[in-house]
Amino acid sequence: MDPKDIVYVNGTFVPRADARVSVEDRGFVFGDGVYEVLRVVNGRLFATRFHNDRLERSLDGVRITLKGGDSPARFVEIGKQLLRENDLTRGEATLYIQVTRGATTRAHQFPPPDIAPTVYISVARFSPYTEFAQTGASAISHPDLRWGRCDLKTLNLLPNVLAAQTAKERGAFEAMLIRDGVVTEGTRTNFFGVVKGSLRTHPRDSHILPGITRLVLRDLARDLSIELDETPISVAEIPKLTELFLTGTTTDVMPVVRLDDKPVGTGKPGELTRRLQRVLAESLASGSD
Ligand SMILES: Cc1ncc(COP(=O)(O)O)c(C=O)c1O
Repeated sequence: MDPKDIVYVNGTFVPRADARVSVEDRGFVFGDGVYEVLRVVNGRLFATRFHNDRLERSLDGVRITLKGGDSPARFVEIGKQLLRENDLTRGEATLYIQVTRGATTRAHQFPPPDIAPTVYISVARFSPYTEFAQTGASAISHPDLRWGRCDLKTLNLLPNVLAAQTAKERGAFEAMLIRDGVVTEGTRTNFFGVVKGSLRTHPRDSHILPGITRLVLRDLARDLSIELDETPISVAEIPKLTELFLTGTTTDVMPVVRLDDKPVGTGKPGELTRRLQRVLAESLASGSD
């Protein structure tokens, strides 16, 4: 184990190997919790305010109340301390924040109010997918089997896990999820496509996670006077896609050049995808907060 592998659990900084949570933790028993993943470039956290807001919304959405002065902003400060303690203030890293409803005797209903949420925060070295970013990746389409509150970033990721594994077994990077005849998003990414020259993505509603990269990209596109039409791409429109890409905190803008074993557009990353890839890279490098 790297001697600097320090994490934070419930108020203490400990080596990862010594970090402990109860087997009765509701995150373990029910997947009853929420999380965030932030990108860190040279020690600077990217889009912190958006992540803090989303964590707040996820906590509210599942009715977890933080205790003892805890807040998303405080978690970010703890994350910064972890970056220093783990020598991750240079290069690429990620910050992971997880909050569960705490540990108590198993019962579906919420625990008594004196049970404090479990807070786990860690940092890790990260390598961007530079090769796929150049060549483009492949995806498969897959039914979206998730629940009705995909806008909350919860630990309940089983449908995502199963779809991601199916994609992997079919040699693809990501699964494009289909619900009610439209593309919603990926297992860990949002999907954007170009149909008849217009850039489209699923609107923000309870069927997608409001991705922070999606949000940042929407602003960057507006700055470039690129119109983004938040109308979902239907299954019937998939063969008409001339460009397709996905976005995420660890995937950036990743071109998708093959879908279900067929080329998308020319089978090469499209022009608009490349432009947006460049502006996001610049934004990450400049450390926008
Ligand atoms: C289901 C889902 N959609 C989209 C995203 C992309 O969100 P972000 O850009 O905030 O990483 C994620 C990230 O984990 C995700 O899990």
